[in-house]
Amino acid sequence: MKLYKVASLKEIQKKKKMLVNINGRTIAIFLIKGEILAVNNFCPHQGGSLYDGKMSRTNITCPLHGRVYSLLTGKCINIIGSPLEKYKTKIENEEIFIFI
Ligand code: FES
Repeated sequence: MKLYKVASLKEIQKKKKMLVNINGRTIAIFLIKGEILAVNNFCPHQGGSLYDGKMSRTNITCPLHGRVYSLLTGKCINIIGSPLEKYKTKIENEEIFIFI
């Protein structure tokens, strides 16, 4: 597993979310209660962009067909479906890092 610096906390502060690209993967990161949660941006159902989904607390609703995922666990919570690919993150010196 490798650690990648992807952004500064300042960059995500306004929208509370952003997209980053690492080694050809598009990863959506969300700032929730001071914590960074990172998932593969593409919904495992049919590739909807989770970045464009509707947030509700720690859940995200895919804009294409409405699957709801927990950003904490990656699990699909409103239907039996594949989970999101989640990534470990850390914040150090106001910088955001992702483990891949
Ligand atoms: S692509 Fe996300 S619910 Fe279908």
